[in-house]
Amino acid sequence: MDTIKNSKILITGGAGFIGSNLVDALIEDNEIVVVDDLSMGKIGNLPQSQNLHFFEHSIVDTEFMSHLLTEWNFDYVFLLAAVASVADTIVRPVETHQINQNANLSILDTIRVNKLPLKKLLFASSAAVYGNNPELPKKEISPIDPQSPYAIDKFATERFVINYGKLYGIPTVATRFFNVYGPKQNPGSPYSGVLSLISNSIKNGRNFKVFGDGEQTRDFVYIDDVIQALNILMVNETAKNDVYNVATSQITSLNDVIKAFKNISGEPLSVNYTNSRLGDIKNSYADISKIKKLGFTPKFSIIEGLKNYWNSMVE
Ligand code: NAD
Ligand code: UD1
Repeated sequence: MDTIKNSKILITGGAGFIGSNLVDALIEDNEIVVVDDLSMGKIGNLPQSQNLHFFEHSIVDTEFMSHLLTEWNFDYVFLLAAVASVADTIVRPVETHQINQNANLSILDTIRVNKLPLKKLLFASSAAVYGNNPELPKKEISPIDPQSPYAIDKFATERFVINYGKLYGIPTVATRFFNVYGPKQNPGSPYSGVLSLISNSIKNGRNFKVFGDGEQTRDFVYIDDVIQALNILMVNETAKNDVYNVATSQITSLNDVIKAFKNISGEPLSVNYTNSRLGDIKNSYADISKIKKLGFTPKFSIIEGLKNYWNSMVE
């Protein structure tokens, strides 16, 4: 597999779920700087290593970020810091816009103005940009229909990233992650990823609340497959100034995933149903032929992924 080696890497949001798993995967062979304000991430997610430099800071502080970027001359930049909850951005649209869009634009502009010679910058966009467009599976060329401040900011920033690349000769790439799950996803907020909330309910014997009838579908992708995709997209030179779905192309309803998780854990879980969540997407799954052409092969079915995830929690 293509992997990043011997490089200076910036990971914003690196103490969060995807970011900290990425740090684990890259720390041995690289020097990594993490900027995270710990609003959702945890310091305990990060390994102890002399290759790691951690700054508890907000990416909204443009002066700090600009200084960091010009001082370090990174080879690779992963822009993962965000308010990752769709529902949270509906409650705080202006505040989350500063993080999910403006801070990232400032980072790009620092790179442009200072002509920083990075090898590539990757931005974490989202399947949320496709919204409720009925076309399934979602292809990168499918019409978009962003329904929430989250999705609007992700789409706009993704376009800034791709077109800063084309306009100013900066190698960039954007990923549209579908529903990522696995170890270290923080269940500590009602806005957390659904599988982390289900696993937390099972573990603590608590009731789980389904928004809607549970027949909404998602393309759940295990974290290790996401790490594979991130490495490929950074290292492969043909993946440039473009956007890629990162998913498995398997469709699963929320009711089915609850049933599977109960079976795997062998634990009971009481579930009740309530109204759908505002701005929620009904059906979502991906066409992944574009990233497969670069060598990406998802290795985890939902059952294999849930088993790994559950085992990591009870170890
Ligand atoms: P996460 O919440 O675990 O990670 C995001 C990290 O960003 C957290 O550690 C948080 O503390 C940090 N952060 C938030 N605001 C910040 C700020 N102002 N300054 C610095 N750090 C800040 O979420 P995740 O699941 O790891 O998501 C990583 C990225 O991938 C996000 O951009 C998210 O929108 C995107 N994404 C995630 C999924 C998914 O299913 N998990 C799907 C699509 C896109
Ligand atoms: C998730 C990600 C988002 C990403 C998107 C891409 C998180 C928090 N959200 O959004 O960053 O861009 O995938 O597809 O990681 N649900 C319940 N009960 C709960 C919580 C959720 O029924 O307690 C339902 C939701 O209403 C939704 C489904 O589960 O229908 C998934 O919710 P969630 O995990 O928040 O994910 P998305 O909104 O799909």
